[in-house]
This record gives sequence, C-alpha cells and structure tokens, in this order.
Amino acid sequence: IFAGPIAFLKSAPDLKFLPDPVAKEVAFAGRSNVGKSSLLNALTNRNGLARTSNTPGRTQELNFFDVGDPAQPLLRLVDMPGYGYARAPKDMVRKWRFLINDYLRGRAVLKRTLLLIDSRHGIKEVDHDIMKMLDDAAVSYRIVLTKADKVKASELAAVADRTMQEIRKRPAAHPDLLMTSSEKGMGIPELRAAVIDALD
Ligand code: GTP
Ligand code: MG
Repeated sequence: IFAGPIAFLKSAPDLKFLPDPVAKEVAFAGRSNVGKSSLLNALTNRNGLARTSNTPGRTQELNFFDVGDPAQPLLRLVDMPGYGYARAPKDMVRKWRFLINDYLRGRAVLKRTLLLIDSRHGIKEVDHDIMKMLDDAAVSYRIVLTKADKVKASELAAVADRTMQEIRKRPAAHPDLLMTSSEKGMGIPELRAAVIDALD
C-alpha cells in the first residue's frame, strides 16, 4: 500500500481540528527528536513528506497523512509532536502533552501506536509515563528503536535487551521490538509489515 498515493491531509493544533474518523490510524509517538517524522518518511519512502529537523520541537501539531485514495484512504499515519522537550516554553509543553494524551486515549480509529525509543538512550522516565497512560487506556502499542545506525552492534543488542526487559513488565505492549534506522533503511520492511498488521 505504500507504493500507491500518500498525501498530507491536515494539521491539528487542537482536538477540535481532528479529521473525521473515517479511516484507521497508526500514530508515531515518542520523545522530542527521537526520529518520528524521519521514520514516517522512511516508512512511506518519501523524503520531506513529514518535516524533520535537527532541532527538537519541530513537529508541533498532529499531522495526518492519507495512504491510498484520499477519497477513501486505506490508512492514516499520524505524526505527533514529541514528548519531554525541556527547553520549550512550559505552556507549550503542557499544550502538547494534553493534545498527545487526549488524542491517544480518545481516538476510536487509532489501531496502533508506534512508541519510538532512541537506540542511544533507551527507555526514559517520560516513556514510562506514556506507556502507563497507554496501558491504562488499553491502547495497543509497539516499541520501535530508532537511529540504530548511531550505535555499535553490541550497544544495540544491549539496549534492545534492556528495553525488552522493561516492556515485558507492561501489561499491553506488543512483545517484540523493531530496530530501525531511517538513515540506513534498517528495519523498514519489518515496520511496514507491523503497520499493515495493525489494520486487521
Ligand atoms: P520532533 O518533531 O521535534 O519531536 O522530532 P522527531 O521525533 O520528529 O525527529 P526528526 O524525525 O525530526 O529527527 C530528528 C533528527 O534526528 C534529525 O536531524 C534527523 O535527521 C535525525 N534522525 C532521524 N532518524 C535518524 C536515523 O535513523 N539515523 C540518524 N543518524 N539520524 C536520524
Ligand atoms: Mg517531528
């Protein structure tokens, strides 16, 4: 399905602006700068579809992308603002947190959340907070390690191990881990399969 048309639909700075829930959605969530927008571009094989930046806090709204015929999309991908960007103004951080949490908790068409974790850092406090929130809301999610090209194979294995131990403690996380690099294309076929899997 990623070989067909894919187009930006809209940005929602607020829950009032969400698109009508007419298609299944898969969301990209995670800390600021973890590589959400880059991974969406790698998944769809379209550079520049979602805007990326070296500076944390690039994505500030919920961005919806239609996969398939826009009149009847097969799927919507949702690029989210990041969590935990310490240097952004406090009221902005609060606004993003409410937007992200309200969307993730309250969206019936949301079929799967991809929770992205930086391979260099592993699971952080704020990731635990998101997982708890998702568990409490019974939202299905899957952990994706990003930027795998930035660490040595041995470090990647170690962080994958630690992350697996953490997610085994959770009631609802999907058990296996995806290891990806948007830069090198690593794990992208598996990610596509995981997204398609979320649709049935
Ligand atoms: P916010 O929208 O600010 O929350 O960030 P984001 O999670 O969308 O991150 P984004 O995709 O904008 O990427 C942040 C930075 O990491 C950019 O400079 C990317 O080029 C870089 N990056 C993303 N993925 C990878 C990767 O797989 N490997 C490497 N080396 N760099 C990456
Ligand atoms: Mg982004």
